[in-house]
Amino acid sequence: MKISIINGPNLNLLGKRETDIYGNMPFEEYLETLKKKYANIEVSYFQSNVEGELVNELQRIGFEYDGIILNAGAYTHTSVAIGDAVAAIKTPVVEVHISNVHAREDFRKFSYLSGKAVGSIFGLGLKGYELAMEYLVSK
Ligand code: DQA
Repeated sequence: MKISIINGPNLNLLGKRETDIYGNMPFEEYLETLKKKYANIEVSYFQSNVEGELVNELQRIGFEYDGIILNAGAYTHTSVAIGDAVAAIKTPVVEVHISNVHAREDFRKFSYLSGKAVGSIFGLGLKGYELAMEYLVSK
């Protein structure tokens, strides 16, 4: 089983960025523990700050992988193209946000992805990725 985690802009700064909101752990460190927990699953990771690269990656793996966990960062709230890519591919996408986007600024309440994803998890910190994984593995 192949599952990909795709992180969008500024998520490469986890552990350094607004730690009161996003916590102190770099994503790579979290990923190691996740990979150990799901040792029988092929887990790949892609991060980009560039919108088109995220679309390219979704298209590249979206007819082959068994599941995608996508945190598109700020593009969630702005990108018709990423929303269209999620709708276009066959692989189920779980949308994840570390912070509770509904408890923050109004512009974070809208997502171009939620209506195309199989489900969304927000506000549960990095644990959200694990919960998304658990769902995809159980399918
Ligand atoms: C985020 C929430 C977005 O609103 C924000 O732009 C991010 C991170 C989250 O994981 O909480 O970059 O997707």
